[in-house]
Amino acid sequence: MTTLLETRSVSKNFGALAASTDINFKLESGARHALIGPNGAGKTTFINLLTGVLLPSSGTVLLKGRDITTMEQAQRVKLGIARTFQINRLFRGLSVLENVYISIAERVGAASQMLAPAGTRRDVIDEAMALLETLKLANDAHRTIAGLPYGRQRLVELAITLGQKPEVLLLDEPAAGVPSAESHIILDAIDALPKSIGVLIIDHDMDLVFRFAQRITVLVRGAIFAEGTPKEIGANPDVRAVYLGQAAHV
Ligand SMILES: Nc1ncnc2c1ncn2[C@@H]1O[C@H](COP(=O)(O)OP(=O)(O)O)[C@@H](O)[C@H]1O
Ligand SMILES: [Mg+2]
Repeated sequence: MTTLLETRSVSKNFGALAASTDINFKLESGARHALIGPNGAGKTTFINLLTGVLLPSSGTVLLKGRDITTMEQAQRVKLGIARTFQINRLFRGLSVLENVYISIAERVGAASQMLAPAGTRRDVIDEAMALLETLKLANDAHRTIAGLPYGRQRLVELAITLGQKPEVLLLDEPAAGVPSAESHIILDAIDALPKSIGVLIIDHDMDLVFRFAQRITVLVRGAIFAEGTPKEIGANPDVRAVYLGQAAHV
């Protein structure tokens, strides 16, 4: 087992607010790892530190042993770290297929052709359509993003992220806004990925988290509160008290 991502004593302060405190974390290759915690616990901040959206106030971020603490976001993407966002980042006037086409075209170096309508590279179109099949979006391929229900837009975001063929996949609430009857599509898509990819998912849906995860880290007020298998976390009385017991309210 290789450690893909690692943080050593990572902290992040926003003025007087300690959003991340002394986080020692490892994401292993092949991991299906969930990060949970109450609202405002610092989950998104932590992902932002991994992707380079934010720089830590102190501590080190490593990718396969290489210090990437201050590396630019775009460079990290090139090295295989991909993420979804809680905010929509889609080209709303373009079709579903065009959005996914652009993501794949960038990866394979065909981006100069991306302004041609719906793209011109057959291989890129085929790969995009295969991804859309996986995410049950094939019937929506030619609809514009603006005309899609919000839950389907979230699935397109995931398709775009998967189009980057990441080695590390960071998913910040991928199921938020997706009808619960469709959230299995997300898990099925992750199941279809090469097993070696390390996946870290943040989600409020404990049902989804416990179905997905082999390992769970609980963040409370910016610090790691507990870490273990779903069984250990589910049975941990302290976790139940601070978090799972109140999950209905977060
Ligand atoms: N850019 C920022 N500037 C100042 N405070 C921030 C910023 N981003 C997040 N915070 C604060 O940091 C804390 C953790 O936020 P966040 O990481 O979004 O939590 P979570 O994703 O677990 O809900 C919150 O108190 C939030 O208000
Ligand atoms: Mg968040």
